[in-house]
Formats: sequence, C-alpha cells, structure tokens
Amino acid sequence: MTDERLGGRLIALGVTGSIAAYKAVELLRLLRAEGAEVAVMLSPAATRFVGPLTFAALSRHPVESDILALLPDGRIGHIVVADSADAIVVAPATAHFLGAMANGLAGDVVTATVLASAAPVVVAPAMDGDMWAHPATQANVARLRDAFGYGIVEPAAGELASGQSGVGRLADLPEIVDAVVAAVGSTPVRAPDPSRRPPLVDGPRDTDLAGRHIVVSAGGTREAIDPVRFIGNRSTGRMGAAIATAALERGARVTVVAANLEVMLPDGAEVIHVESTAELRAALLRLTHRPDGTAGFDALVMAAAVADFRPVGTADTKLERAGTGLTLQLEPTPDVLAQLARIVRGTDSDGEATAQAVEPRPYLVGFAAETGSLERAAEKLKRKGVDLLVANDVAEAGSGFGTDTNRVSILTLEGGRDDLPLLSKRQVADRLLDRIALALDARDADAQTSKP
Ligand code: CTP
Repeated sequence: MTDERLGGRLIALGVTGSIAAYKAVELLRLLRAEGAEVAVMLSPAATRFVGPLTFAALSRHPVESDILALLPDGRIGHIVVADSADAIVVAPATAHFLGAMANGLAGDVVTATVLASAAPVVVAPAMDGDMWAHPATQANVARLRDAFGYGIVEPAAGELASGQSGVGRLADLPEIVDAVVAAVGSTPVRAPDPSRRPPLVDGPRDTDLAGRHIVVSAGGTREAIDPVRFIGNRSTGRMGAAIATAALERGARVTVVAANLEVMLPDGAEVIHVESTAELRAALLRLTHRPDGTAGFDALVMAAAVADFRPVGTADTKLERAGTGLTLQLEPTPDVLAQLARIVRGTDSDGEATAQAVEPRPYLVGFAAETGSLERAAEKLKRKGVDLLVANDVAEAGSGFGTDTNRVSILTLEGGRDDLPLLSKRQVADRLLDRIALALDARDADAQTSKP
C-alpha cells in the first residue's frame, strides 16, 4: 500500500487501433498495481485488436466503446469517465487519434472523453515509423503538447509490426505509468464518491478485502415479553448472510453478530449469537473497544433488523391468558448504530468532539428499511452518523424480507445517491463491498499521505 502512487485515483485509459493495443492490457494491470481504479475506453478499431471483455474483467468497470451507449443507470458513459477521471492516458495512440484530437474531432469515445474532460492527458503514440515521421503527425503531436499541454510519451526505436525498424514502438509501459503519476501530480486525493464514477461490473474479483476484518450484523432481534413470547420482526438474515459470504470470498476475515436467522451462515465466518437488542449492542461494543484504542474491525455493516421498542419489563413466568386483554408497556431501545458511530468518531450526540476518535476509523454502513418513499433515508444517514446507508423500500415487490432480490439505493455521507436496479442480494452485497474496499483503501492512502 505504501508504494502505490495512484491510490484513490481514477485513471481513464483510452486505447486506439494500433497493433500495440494488446500492451494496454498490461498497462491496465500496472495502473491497478499502483492503486488506481481504471476505466477503459476503446476506439472502434481497438476493439478489433483486444476484446472489451478482457478490459472489463481486469478493470471491473464497463468498457466504453460506443459513443452513443448509455450506462445501465442511464448516464452517458464517456461523460461520466471524463468528469470523474483524475487523468486520462491514451496508449497506444494512433496517428488518426493524434490528428483527430489536434482538431477537436470527437468521433469516438476516446476523443470524445478527452475533449469533454478537464483532467490532465498523457498520450503514448505507437505507429509505423514513416507515419510517425510525417510532418502531419509531428505537427499534430506538437499541437497536443504545446497548445493543449498534453504529456507526450514518445515512441521508442525498435522493430515495428511491419517488420521494419524505426521509431514508432509504444514506449515502455513503466515510462507511461510514470508519466501518468507525474500528470496526476500532488493534487489531493479526492474522497472517492463512487456514485460519480463509472459503475463497477460483476466479474472475477480479486481479494480486495484481504487483511480486512468486516463485521456484519444479521437477522432480527427479539425482545422478550415473558419466557415464551417475544416481539420480533420479519428479518431472515439473508442480506447479512450474503454480505458475509461475499466478504469471505473477497479475502476478508468476517465476524457475524447473528440475531435470529432463518438462513445458514457461510463456513469460515466467526459467529457471535445474540437474541435481543441489548445483547447485540453488548457484542458490538465489545468488538469496538480494544484496550489499545483501535477498533477490532475495519468496517461494520449493520444489516440486522433491530427492534425499536422493547417491553419495559420481562415477566419471569409465562403470562396467563386471563381477563380481557393485555397491555404491554414498551420503551425505546438504544440506537446501537448511532452510538457506535459516536464512539468511533469521538463525538457526542450534537456532533461535538468529546473523546479521542478511533484510529484507523472503521467504516460504518447502515441499512434502512422504509415503506413508501426513501425521503427519510438521507436524514437517517446523518442522524446515525454512518458513512453509507443502504435504503430499500420493503413494501416493493422483490425487495425486503424473505426475498432473494433487493432494489436498494446507496446513499453517501457526501450526499451522493446511487439507485441500483433490482439485483440479487449477493449482487447488492458485492456492490456494497466494492465501495467498502475502495473506501478502506482511500482511508489508508490518506493516513499514509498525512503522515509527517
Ligand atoms: N439500528 C440500530 N439500533 C436500533 C435501531 C436500528 O442500530 N435500535 C440500525 C439498523 O440495524 C439499521 C439502521 O439502524 O442499520 C436503520 O434502522 P431503521 O430501523 O431503518 O432506523 P430507525 O433508527 O429505527 O428509524 P425509524 O424506525 O424511525 O425508521
């Protein structure tokens, strides 16, 4: 982590139709190894050299290759990339790209993205030696460098695809990576707001949570009325179990604080069984407080359905069926998540700093089951002091308790909102973990850069 030079950055990689397009796959890997997220754009000719699927699997973002295509969420893909990239690198860049760009012709996604972006641009040309030497190409390169301020990583001498030798080979990839690092420079890492970035796609995932400890609360709490009866809720624990399974597969250590569940938890998760809100609270407080002042986990996903009210007292013996009825007096339960958020932030209920914040600060995710509109969710996120809130309308078909699918909106502390389509709970879990993995990487990158 310490020597990643592009942690927290989004780099747009434009690939145009040169034989060297295959080298862009390795360039993508090197940029990822530097900690960058990478969004790939392919010119139509580039797609004939390397398939978009390769880039999509390795970048985990949709590949932009059609200028008229929209993202699944309706946004214009190349504009999202243009607006959110910290730098754009076009490698390999063909003579055609240089000519089009020098004249502002935005006929494909690569040129359109560059034209629409204020991000620094690095261009690494690759072509036949005579094409490179042609005055037209040289004039275009000069224009990109001198008039537009683009960084040019000049091609190298060597054997070319034509079998001839000359200047035109794509520069060595580490040199291109260095140029990207230089272009990004020391601008502060922006707190990545995933909702402004290109979406992540499902595909083979790496173990991006290796070394992380994720705590998931799951199921529904039960508040005893007497030794036999309780007040409970419809939560089955499916969402929490899906998050635990996905986090384990992505390399995390996982602890599930399991209230009452109807589903199996994955092997490999450490499980703490609890019954009531008080037990759930106690278990989570124990996990949060360690003698050295750190939390025992990197992220908490509070997927449990926690009772809001409990009987003021629990009868020691079974209440008898007598008389005309039974009136239960209920009292509110403590808001466990809000309390934990105050502890990790070191603040009181007015947001004032009163204690040492927990370092490194664990990332907190709440769930909000709403019926009707999600209007209240943004206010709930602030009230609870969490970093992310996953809100769903449990009254909607296919969403909520007992289903295998969920349609959720993910709200961020920065005010972002991402309305996801109807997905399986496992897909929702992975979307959520994508954000958690990125946020934890950014947290560590920040800690690294703010060290004296
Ligand atoms: N939660 C909690 N402690 C409670 C109630 C809820 O930690 N006593 C957590 C839930 O696990 C969930 C989030 O807070 O992650 C939101 O739960 P929700 O029931 O939607 O919020 P409430 O605070 O209960 O608000 P309301 O009932 O007014 O919607």
